[in-house]
Amino acid sequence: MEVIRTVSELKQRVAAQRAQGKTIGLVPTMGALHAGHISLMEQARKDNDIVVVSVFVNPTQFNNPEDLRTYPRTEEADCVKMKAANVDIAFIPSVEEVYPEPDTRTFDLGLVAEVMEGPMRPGHFNGVAQIVSKLFYMVEPDRSYFGEKDFQQIAVIRRMVEIEGFNIEIIDCPIKREDDGLAMSSRNVRLTPQQRAIAPNIARTLNASLDYALGHNLAETKQYVIDTINAFPQMEVEYYEIVNAATMQPISNWEDAPVAVGCITVYCGEVRLIDNIKYTK
Ligand code: PAJ
Repeated sequence: MEVIRTVSELKQRVAAQRAQGKTIGLVPTMGALHAGHISLMEQARKDNDIVVVSVFVNPTQFNNPEDLRTYPRTEEADCVKMKAANVDIAFIPSVEEVYPEPDTRTFDLGLVAEVMEGPMRPGHFNGVAQIVSKLFYMVEPDRSYFGEKDFQQIAVIRRMVEIEGFNIEIIDCPIKREDDGLAMSSRNVRLTPQQRAIAPNIARTLNASLDYALGHNLAETKQYVIDTINAFPQMEVEYYEIVNAATMQPISNWEDAPVAVGCITVYCGEVRLIDNIKYTK
């Protein structure tokens, strides 16, 4: 595995591979790698000749400076994991390398960015579109891999791809969970042992809501999830929205979408956790 820190070197290396007819898969990450990230690399490994992973804590997508400051940074351990996952190129640039000047681009992300994480984290999705589009221009991959844990993020990225006219296949990968159901996240390390013990109730409740939904309407199911999770100590639901999986728009009846996805954000103490579940007919 080669560790590359500059854009010019990255472009050279990737161009040399492409000239040999190799296909290229890109996995964008912010590091603090866990098995969820690794599952994206494994999928990329299966589909492509060359796997590029970027590790970059992107400042423009953080709307909370404290969250940016305390975001876990574990480069050495990340490199060991990427090597073990047979990654070819780890791109680990500095902030100055990625943003030699401020990125002033505003993306017209439309309706998919106007709900849920959109209003809760102003500027977040524009920052995601900035960094992912930059990476796409640098690497020009055939395919790029994203986790369904950040369900709305995938819709935003598809929209950005449409706006920029990239010919890149966006591949979504299923959520990886701990044995007790908690969705893996770089932020889980911030949970206290007590919070860590309670956090799996998010996934448990979402799962239980699949059964509940069979006998209840959408509004009742939403309320069931919110009330059940809020009843646990230290847990507070920020939002629970059930949306059309294709459009991210909230629906009022199960019949309004072939696939509905329930997207939740919960504060467990200070730690903001997200998860989601599909309701299919
Ligand atoms: P990060 O949170 O590091 O996540 C990188 C990728 O891993 C994302 O596509 C995310 O959805 C996926 N991922 C995280 N946890 C996962 C899990 N438990 N199961 C499956 N996939 C999981 O998302 C970002 O970084 C950034 O916004 C980024 C796209 C890199 C742009 O900066």
